[in-house]
Amino acid sequence: MIKILFVCLGNICRSPMAEFMFRDMVKTEGLADRFRIASAATSYEETGNPVHHGARQKLAQYGISTAGKTAVRMQKKDYEAYDYLIGMDEGNIRSMRRIAGGDEEHKIYKLLEFAGSARDIADPWYTGNFDVTYDDILEGCQGLLKRLKEEGRLR
Ligand code: 4NP
Repeated sequence: MIKILFVCLGNICRSPMAEFMFRDMVKTEGLADRFRIASAATSYEETGNPVHHGARQKLAQYGISTAGKTAVRMQKKDYEAYDYLIGMDEGNIRSMRRIAGGDEEHKIYKLLEFAGSARDIADPWYTGNFDVTYDDILEGCQGLLKRLKEEGRLR
């Protein structure tokens, strides 16, 4: 079982998009039972709130539902519980390290690393652009799945 936690600032836009897009991707490949996939926030700003309507609308275009998801904050114990803790931007990475108390096991990543890029995923909470964010998250998630296959973790 590969355990993945996607993380962003509010857990209502980017990280739930990544969670449900990656779920959809592994389901399509018949790999759903090999994963535990979740998402969380670095802040308490949106705790308990559903996914942003802009993100919901964008994912609905691809037949992906986020029904039932509400925002939760990342906990210190998540660092032990997950194999990959994947943030969206540099600010997320700093906050994740603070919450986890460091990253001794090198489990904290930035999503676009898996697509060979040092770029951040733009926050649609500020940009209003869910299309660009979707494209970047897709690229990152595809890169992540490719990496897991290459590392032999899905054999
Ligand atoms: P997210 O976007 O980190 O992609 O979920 C945000 C959502 C809410 C806030 C910030 C970013 N906020 O400050 O409430």
